[in-house]
Amino acid sequence: MTAQIIDCKKLAQSVKEELKAKIAPLSAAPALAVIIVGCDPASEIYVRNKEKACLAVGIIPQTHKLPAETSKEELAALIERLNNNPDINGILVQLPLPAHLNAAEILPLISPVKDVDGFHPLNAGALLQKNAKTFIPCTPKGIIKLIKSTKPDLTGLNAVIIGRSQIVGLPVANLLLNENCTVTVAHSKTQNLPALCRTADILVVAVGKPELVTKEYIKPDSLVIDVGINRTANGLKGDVKFTDALETAAYITPVPNGVGPMTIAMLLDNTFEAYLKQHRP
Ligand code: GUN
Repeated sequence: MTAQIIDCKKLAQSVKEELKAKIAPLSAAPALAVIIVGCDPASEIYVRNKEKACLAVGIIPQTHKLPAETSKEELAALIERLNNNPDINGILVQLPLPAHLNAAEILPLISPVKDVDGFHPLNAGALLQKNAKTFIPCTPKGIIKLIKSTKPDLTGLNAVIIGRSQIVGLPVANLLLNENCTVTVAHSKTQNLPALCRTADILVVAVGKPELVTKEYIKPDSLVIDVGINRTANGLKGDVKFTDALETAAYITPVPNGVGPMTIAMLLDNTFEAYLKQHRP
């Protein structure tokens, strides 16, 4: 059988169109500040894509490009200014930061009501407490939308997530638990990974290892979400061997133009939510 390729671009586009219609009548446009420190080429592309996406739906993007040698104090001062600026609704610090800046020290400086990434400890904690009002991190929020576009009720399904990052793996695990899945989080120390993955009705792979997941990892008729974007000598590759997933799974997300466009659509959605929180608390 051949898996269906989830049309992530189309789903992201419909989210953006809905947002555009909701933003158009607002008295002031929502604004998103994006801070990028240094010149990581992949981050520069992501930030440019975020700017373009903002403009397409009527959100004002404000990019702050800081030199790689920016100190913690300088970055903290900029975040403080943006926290106190009523014209800015959302703040995002693009990761990774240069090695001398510790994300665990920087991210909590963002005001929780402007934390559109959902990485502030208060928002991350609220997710664990199933607080629906929290900001849900963009990639995990997009992944749940993609999964539910194929199957609205996930109750009782076995989900395996490979990767335990704060950005993807851990929030996805909590969101799938909230959807009544039985969730296993696998990581670099997990034993017998292929056999574990073959129990998964939903397999989410977010490890940054090109084509780690091959046919022997994939349960027939399952749903596979590939979060990896790996630049290799043979071009962009996901964490999943796409041709193997096509042969085995029922649904697969492509790379590129898979999870990425949904992540950006969810960032716009969170920015709109931030605007509402600040204007109609
Ligand atoms: N770098 C890779 N993914 C993300 C993300 O979701 N948010 C931020 N701020 N940086 C990232």
